[in-house]
Amino acid sequence: MAPLQITALTAERSALALPDLPWDAPLSRWPAEHLAALPRGISRHVVRFVRLADSVVAVKENTEELVRREYGLLRMLRRLDVPCVVPVAVVTGRADPDGEPLDPALVTQHLQFSLPYRALFSQSLRPDTATRLVDALAVLLVRLHLAGFYWGDVSLSNTLFRRDAGEFAAYLVDAETGELHQELSDGQRENDVEVARINIAGELMDLEAAEYLDESVDPIEVANSIVDRYHTLWEELTGQESFEQGERWRVQARIERLNELGFDVGELSISTDVGGAMVQIQPKVVDAGHHSRRLLRLTGIDAENNQARRLLNDMDSFIAASDRQNDDEEIVAHDWLAQVFDPVVRAIPRKMRRKLEPAEVFHEVLEHRWYRSEQAGRDIPLLEAARSYVEEVLAQRPDEQALILQTGLMDTGQMKAVGMDRDEAPLLGSTGPDGSDDADDPESDRIDGWLSSHG
Ligand SMILES: Nc1ncnc2c1ncn2[C@@H]1O[C@H](COP(=O)(O)OP(=O)(O)OP(=O)(O)O)[C@@H](O)[C@H]1O
Ligand SMILES: [Mg+2]
Repeated sequence: MAPLQITALTAERSALALPDLPWDAPLSRWPAEHLAALPRGISRHVVRFVRLADSVVAVKENTEELVRREYGLLRMLRRLDVPCVVPVAVVTGRADPDGEPLDPALVTQHLQFSLPYRALFSQSLRPDTATRLVDALAVLLVRLHLAGFYWGDVSLSNTLFRRDAGEFAAYLVDAETGELHQELSDGQRENDVEVARINIAGELMDLEAAEYLDESVDPIEVANSIVDRYHTLWEELTGQESFEQGERWRVQARIERLNELGFDVGELSISTDVGGAMVQIQPKVVDAGHHSRRLLRLTGIDAENNQARRLLNDMDSFIAASDRQNDDEEIVAHDWLAQVFDPVVRAIPRKMRRKLEPAEVFHEVLEHRWYRSEQAGRDIPLLEAARSYVEEVLAQRPDEQALILQTGLMDTGQMKAVGMDRDEAPLLGSTGPDGSDDADDPESDRIDGWLSSHG
């Protein structure tokens, strides 16, 4: 029998702790001390979240062929800059103490602050949330297709969502059925869109049957909307456009529209017709994340694209207000970071910092300031807004870095839609020896508050 073998990327530090895990037991029987209780989507295979010294990974059991295949595809998708979970390792040659072989496993990094769609609401999925989920999935699908990736099993369950300035950003979590091509044919793309439409309809109908769907949501209508969203976006990104000579500004307008959508134009192909009167452009979209990259370059903040756009807008108004349009952009960005962004993040009490990512907190503080200023009829200073945001908004929110759903606190009636086993230990927070939190621990209010505010 082949010995246990762990194949990992050297860049993944978390892989170093993998040999210590109980690979000689089936994943479904791993002791609670290794497991982290985080919300998980529905799946055919056994999937568990496992805590390592300084990170959490997801472990999925599958056949050797499929584990290797998914690992390889995820590595390539990462290289193509597509949002997906990060592969850590492949574990093969597993056997129990009697020498009976056990299924190989794929290890991926747990995507921080991400939630399966069923954990994004408690009582029911409302129409605006449903629409935003579908929109995010359409963007992901377009990005995958631009990279030449045929997904094959597009669904809400195979996607993870992170908050992105009031919208969602979608990540591919299940690549098992995918294929990477040089370029996709229209037929392949249409096939994925059709699979998405059917799966979303099925997923929403399941929610409906279990009474988790707001009555005003029509599953078929929402599912159908992915078709339009996808095509509009695809056309905007890749469509050919003709215009008269002298209308060059339209090229610029097109590029700006693409940037607004979060895409970059790497190359433009311009051809003139015989008479030289008409010009055709065909943008070659390289990848998404225009705003994210600019923010990262200027400040080192790694944010989702919409968050990045909000932060950059704030930075731009800082530049305008301090009349420094002609200064070096990197120097002004540094000052904005020190004088505006950092003070807001520092105004968040340490114990609340796990609740949301700093970039999302900053975005919400900006929104809160706008709302409070309107109420007060005067401009509320940013730090004052940050303090009132902490008291009025953030104190009511759950941790999203690692949403802890402890059995004692969890309203299982409401959260049944999310897979989680009773034997999994909570990831963070102290649980008393009797399994209950201190009565005055704000954590309990927080989760109850979250459950009731996410209807
Ligand atoms: N790296 C990760 N980070 C966060 N969550 C993850 C990660 N990997 C898996 N999950 C969770 O586990 C669930 C199941 O994973 P996945 O879809 O890969 O399993 P599967 O058994 O292949 O599913 P299917 O039934 O579609 O074949 C996901 O929906 C997601 O909620
Ligand atoms: Mg899946």
